[in-house]
Amino acid sequence: MKRNVKAFREKKGGRIVMVTAYDYPTARLAEEAGVDAILVGDSLGNVVLGYEDTRPVKLEEIVHHTAAARRGAKQTFLVADIPYLEDATLERALLASRRLLKEAGADAVKLEGAKVEIVRGLVAAGVPVMGHLGLTPQTASQLGGYRVQGRDLEGARKLLEDALRLEAAGVFALVLEMVPSALARAITERVKVPTIGIGAGGGTDGQVLVFHDLIGVPGDFKPRFVKRYLEGGELIRAALSAYAEDVRAGRFPAPEHAYELEPGVIEALGLG
Ligand code: KIV
Repeated sequence: MKRNVKAFREKKGGRIVMVTAYDYPTARLAEEAGVDAILVGDSLGNVVLGYEDTRPVKLEEIVHHTAAARRGAKQTFLVADIPYLEDATLERALLASRRLLKEAGADAVKLEGAKVEIVRGLVAAGVPVMGHLGLTPQTASQLGGYRVQGRDLEGARKLLEDALRLEAAGVFALVLEMVPSALARAITERVKVPTIGIGAGGGTDGQVLVFHDLIGVPGDFKPRFVKRYLEGGELIRAALSAYAEDVRAGRFPAPEHAYELEPGVIEALGLG
């Protein structure tokens, strides 16, 4: 897929592949694997930085990690999350977008919730915005925790209305997180922009997964909607244990891992 918003929008009705990446090697591997888009999500907070949730993530941190991901994936469409409360006013959201787009090299920003006026203002200023509805981790506490959203009539109606309002405000795509499949499918059929699901079934225009969930690192988090493609946590732990055993047993480094002096140097220095 070409690295622009128009190409992304044209994927409506297709199968968009999106994955998170927060650093150079992961973004590079994702690009080499041919994903359509990379998200530098604020899941950075819990997945990489060890915070309890996404709320402590600072703009500075997302800028730093987005720039690293961009260096790893120069050809791939890159979306960066606006961290918690950095979109509390249009002015703040514009400042955050400026840094993410101009300094860090993102192609678009994503923000959580039905912040219609902020989205409208950003889009009017020329910022490509991806929306995010359903479970919005920055405000999970107001939603009753990390749980499926839009199950009952009232919740489903609100989600559909919010999706239509965000579309009217100008988002070019919409993430639907932890939403019942039938509702996600119905929203997808009613909005003209692509929907990207996570825990929203197979009826959306694309899927996004958190990279560390997909590869099982560290391995203790596996919600229902995650499919694991690698038991990476187990493999990495085993590799690190083998390394520790080798060092302790004197098996590493072996001669093939070491460098040699030119002949006679030790003697000439009087060290022989
Ligand atoms: O922060 C993130 O990784 C996200 C995805 C789960 C959509 O917002």
